[in-house]
Amino acid sequence: MHVVIVGSGIAGLTAALHAHEAGEHVTIVTKTALGDGCTPLAQGGVAGVYGPGDSRERHAADTMDAGAGLSDPAAVDVLVRDGAERIAELIARGVAFDRSPDGELLLGREAAHSRARIVHSGGDATGAAIARALVAAVRGTTITIIEQAFLVDLLVTEGAVHGIRLLRDGVESELQADAVVLASGGAGQLYAHTTNPLGATGDGIAAAIRAGARVDDLEFVQFHPTVLASGPAFLISEAVRGEGATLVDDDGRRFVFDSHPDGELAPRDVVARAIARRSAAQGGPVRLDATALGADRLRERFPTIDRVTRARGFDWSVEPIPVTPAAHYLMGGVTTDLHGRTNLRGLFAVGEVARTGVHGANRLASNSLLEGAVFGARAAAALSAPWPAVADGQVPSATVPRLASDRDVDGTASVFTRATLQQLMWDEVGLLRTTRGLEHARGLLRAWRAGAPAPASAAEHEDANLLLLADATATAALTRSVGVGAHHLEAPELERV
Ligand code: SIN
Repeated sequence: MHVVIVGSGIAGLTAALHAHEAGEHVTIVTKTALGDGCTPLAQGGVAGVYGPGDSRERHAADTMDAGAGLSDPAAVDVLVRDGAERIAELIARGVAFDRSPDGELLLGREAAHSRARIVHSGGDATGAAIARALVAAVRGTTITIIEQAFLVDLLVTEGAVHGIRLLRDGVESELQADAVVLASGGAGQLYAHTTNPLGATGDGIAAAIRAGARVDDLEFVQFHPTVLASGPAFLISEAVRGEGATLVDDDGRRFVFDSHPDGELAPRDVVARAIARRSAAQGGPVRLDATALGADRLRERFPTIDRVTRARGFDWSVEPIPVTPAAHYLMGGVTTDLHGRTNLRGLFAVGEVARTGVHGANRLASNSLLEGAVFGARAAAALSAPWPAVADGQVPSATVPRLASDRDVDGTASVFTRATLQQLMWDEVGLLRTTRGLEHARGLLRAWRAGAPAPASAAEHEDANLLLLADATATAALTRSVGVGAHHLEAPELERV
C-alpha cells in the first residue's frame, strides 16, 4: 500500500515511522523542511507520566475538565491509555527527557493539571528534541521525503480519497495513494497574534473541507495566555507558572484570582481572558513575575526563554516581564474516529489538523504532543484494516456541514489582504466574542470570498485557505450560540456598538 503523509510534525512523523515499520510504502510531503512546523517550537512537554498519587483516571478527568465537559470520553481514554507506550517509544527513539540525578524522569506541572505529570527535554526545548529524534529516525529509513511541496487539494472520486495534488517549484502535479494521512497542523495564522509559525495556514483542513470531509469545533481556538509583549510573538511556557511564577497587574495584584480560585493555574481560556480584560482596563500589558525562581533556576529550567527574553532586553530574574495572549492551538478540525479515520474513505487526519474529540472546548496543556504521537500511531495501525461503512459510527458523511459557497454570498467584490483578515479575526472572532461582531466578521469574510481570484501561487493558496477557514470559524462560532470553553461570548449588554 502506498501511504502519503502530508506534514512532518510529531503526528506525521510517528504515523510515517509506524506505517513504514508495518511494511507500507510511505511518502512524506511537507510544505517546508522535514520536521519544521509547530512541533519543534513546543516548550511545555508531554503529559502522561504518573507519579505517586496520580493515575490515568486523574489525567483523563483533568482533560475533560479543561475541555469544559465537551471532550469525547472514549478519545480521552485512548489518549491516556496509549500515552505511556508512546512516551516510551519517544525515549527509545532517542528523546532524552530531563531526569533527576538518580535517573528518575522529572515531572513538571502546568495549568489545569491536578498533578505534576509532564516530561520535558532540555528544560523548555521538548518539541525540538522530539523533532530531532523523529527526523533522524525517518532519515534512517527508505521513506520517500518530498520537501517544499504545497498541498493544493485532495484527489477524490466517489467519496474516496486516492491521492493529492501538490505544487512544487511553481508546477502542479498529482501523487496517487491508497491512503492519505493529513498531519499538516493548525491555522494560527488566522490571527494577528499567534505563537504558530508562518506556515500554519490550515491547508489540510481547507483541502478536507473542499473534498467534502466533515469538520467540527472550529469555533474552539485556544489563545495561550502568556506571549512576550515585546517584539515578534514568543511563547513564555505555562510551565513557568507551573513552577510558581505569578501574573500581576500595574498595582502588583494577582488579578487572575478574581476570575478563578486556581489563579494562574486555572484553565488557559480563563487565564487568557483575565489577562486580556486586565490589560484593556489598565491600558497596557500585565506582567509575569518569575523573580522568585531566581536566576539559576530560570536559566537551568527554561534555557530558551531565558536566552530570548535577555536578548530582548529583559532580565526576568529581577523584573516581571510584559505578557499578552496569542492564538495558539485549534481544538477543532477534520473529524475522525478513534483511529484517525475521517468520513472520506482513504483519508486519515492526525495531530492538530484533526478533531479527535480529545480536547473538547479547550485543550489541556501538554496534551497536544501526546495526542499527535498516540493518534499518529493509531492511524498507521488502521491503514490495512477494512474501512468501516461509517468509521466507528462517529463520522456519518450526511452530517458534513454546509459552508457558505460563493453563490450564498451577497457581497460586492472586494479585496482583502492576509493582514486585514488576521486583524478582523483577532478583533471579532478572537478571545472575547459578541454575536454582533461575529456577524460583522462573517459578512466581510463572505464578501472577500466572493471577490477572491482563483489562487495560483503557494502564497495565494494559503490566503484562500485562510479565508475559507475564517468563514468556517466565524460560522461555527455563530452556530454555537452558548459560550463554552474557548468560545467565549460576551453578555449582550457588553457588546460593542
Ligand atoms: C506551553 O509551554 O505553555 C505550551 C504547552 C502547550 O501548548 O501544551
